[in-house]
Amino acid sequence: MRLKHCHSFRDFRRLAKRRLPGPIFDYIDGGADDEVTLRRNSESFERCDLVPNVLRGVKEVDLSTTVMGQRLAMPFYCAPTALQRLFHHRGERAVAAASARFGTLFGVSSLGTVSLEELRRAYDTPQVYQFYFHKDRGLNGAMLERAKTAGVDIMMLTVDSITGGNRERDLRSGFSIPLKLTPASMLQFAIKPRWGLDYVTHERFSLPQLNGHIDMSGVALSIGRYFTEMLDPAMDWDDVARMVALWDGQFCLKGVMSVEDAKRAVEIGCTGIVLSNHGGRQLDGSRAPFDQLAEIVEAVGGRIDVILDGGVTRGTHVLKALALGAKAVGAGRYYLFPLAVAGQAGVERALSLMREELERGMRLMGCTRLDQLSAANLRFH
Ligand code: FNR
Ligand code: LAC
Repeated sequence: MRLKHCHSFRDFRRLAKRRLPGPIFDYIDGGADDEVTLRRNSESFERCDLVPNVLRGVKEVDLSTTVMGQRLAMPFYCAPTALQRLFHHRGERAVAAASARFGTLFGVSSLGTVSLEELRRAYDTPQVYQFYFHKDRGLNGAMLERAKTAGVDIMMLTVDSITGGNRERDLRSGFSIPLKLTPASMLQFAIKPRWGLDYVTHERFSLPQLNGHIDMSGVALSIGRYFTEMLDPAMDWDDVARMVALWDGQFCLKGVMSVEDAKRAVEIGCTGIVLSNHGGRQLDGSRAPFDQLAEIVEAVGGRIDVILDGGVTRGTHVLKALALGAKAVGAGRYYLFPLAVAGQAGVERALSLMREELERGMRLMGCTRLDQLSAANLRFH
């Protein structure tokens, strides 16, 4: 199977499973606890039916939108995800280049593997810096300063990861950063020589956003330990209000799910919220963001940009979310498996398929502009 045979998320996931060592595939694919929320995120879209209009004349479809002051060519973006150069040596460079080609937004994680400065300089497309709030206040200040100096367009503070989710696949495989090959995982890596060659023959793996704050030479750090040892569980609304004031620009909270928190985000001056449960990787049993969307839009829509991620693998998923009032929709795994399979060409193919599905879906819904989508076009099982 090759890239040109990939016509959907499922095809990319199947090919990535063949190409990646098990522990790395499982880190991307896995969720917390029993992975109930991971499954529910996708299932939530299947419980919603589209009711199309016809004979509207849909020759020209406009997919453009504006989210937190950024003009996007389509209402779909690449959500911030960690460790991308572990999946393909080009990592964030490939994702940024593909996002720029499709005129959309991409996120750089605090655990990103290419510096936010390089990505801001090299790729002319809206860039989000995804911020984790660390115990080390000096690190927090330095990160905000770096992102401001680099000219990052949107600060995105992740608020659903105050401690690490229980990732049992990673516990079983011993997944850690930097990779520490154990006898068990050595076999996994040995049988995927193509990945191994890609990993060892390119620039040494690093976490540039955390330079000087994380020991990459010593004991391997699991994602869980990063959360529990470096992130500050005491973070509260006062801390965030101070950061919003300090940033003084487009500021978004990622991982808000309750109406109460959505209202608090408006009160402290946030310009956006991402309705998200971290792709089912944190609190298993959380409601699917799509199921929660109408309630949140009802409460704060129009006062803050509501965007969403989790389980999105089709253009129709995006259209359903927009019909309920989301301004745009993000995804992680949707572009990570293509990245692992074929770097920038993989992500570009995935974004091209997404754009085709959005255009086709809009035409079949009888819409030429995104603001013509509404809850009137939806029915729930
Ligand atoms: C993530 N996600 C994430 N979120 C974040 O705020 N900071 C991060 O560093 C990461 N890292 C990360 C790694 C991997 C491998 C995955 C799959 C996800 C969560 C991500 O931004 C997004 O919320 C979810 O991926 C959305 O769910 P889907 O689209 O993957 O189903
Ligand atoms: C994860 C963290 C890094 O989901 O956000 O793996």
